[in-house]
Amino acid sequence: MEIQLWRELLDPYQLAVDEMVVKFNHVITEHRTRGLYSPIESVEGRLKSIVSILDKMKRKEISMNDIEEKIEDIAGIRLNCQFVEDIDRVVQMIKERTDMVVKCEKDYINHMKASGYRSYHIIVDYTVNTIKGPKTLSAEIQIRTMAMNFWATIEHSLQYKYKEHIPDYVQQKLIDASRAIIDIDQAMSDVRDEIMDAQNSHQKKENLVKDILNNIQNLYKVANKREVTKIQDEFYKVYVTDDMMQLQHFASQLDIISEGYQTQSLT
Ligand code: GTP
Ligand code: MG
Repeated sequence: MEIQLWRELLDPYQLAVDEMVVKFNHVITEHRTRGLYSPIESVEGRLKSIVSILDKMKRKEISMNDIEEKIEDIAGIRLNCQFVEDIDRVVQMIKERTDMVVKCEKDYINHMKASGYRSYHIIVDYTVNTIKGPKTLSAEIQIRTMAMNFWATIEHSLQYKYKEHIPDYVQQKLIDASRAIIDIDQAMSDVRDEIMDAQNSHQKKENLVKDILNNIQNLYKVANKREVTKIQDEFYKVYVTDDMMQLQHFASQLDIISEGYQTQSLT
């Protein structure tokens, strides 16, 4: 295939990757701005390289005409979670979306692959709008914990070195490591509530401080500068007490002052 044709073939997939990365990152932001725990920790997206597509065509005896139908991971999204429990929530969330239609699911978490690989895979139909009109294509979403991702990333790099023939002793080490990952994820799940509490209160504090500083900044434009500097000093005094109740009280007092000036902003 000519390079220009590859580009035309791959362009909509790149668009799908870009859009989906934006959307899933927004899921994280939406949770965090509301002071909620996000079941997605981070998002990655990649377009399958031409070399990987050619290799897969060879390995699976796929013809040029069948690429789009038979290679479902040209657009690839990876959603990293902190805890195993988050994975189900993310899967559920994807199923409830109207812009992605789940075509197929593979649960390599409850059914670990012989290699030791664990992840939850979803193939979705996703529609992009190109200058030629709408186009529905397949995308692969891999959902895994950060620990599973650590294992898969390292194991994947070994596949490059050894191709399909990883020596037995290395293979065995990888399987052992994969079992250790199960233990790590379990240990983290055991203290999930504590970890989530800690992260939530940190996020709440971040949001509150952001609101306060935003209010102060807006006041600075309209109110007496000396007054605003005094408010800022007051804020710092409250901040160093590390007392959320006091900080919340300060924030609501500041809201009242801002309302007086009608400077309270949405951001
Ligand atoms: P591929 O031809 O590799 O795409 O396999 P498949 O079409 O049977 O789908 P499968 O769900 O098994 O794998 C899809 C993707 O999951 C792969 O492209 C990898 O990104 C990942 N994957 C699957 N098995 C392994 C594994 O043993 N190790 C690692 N590191 N990744 C894997
Ligand atoms: Mg694949």
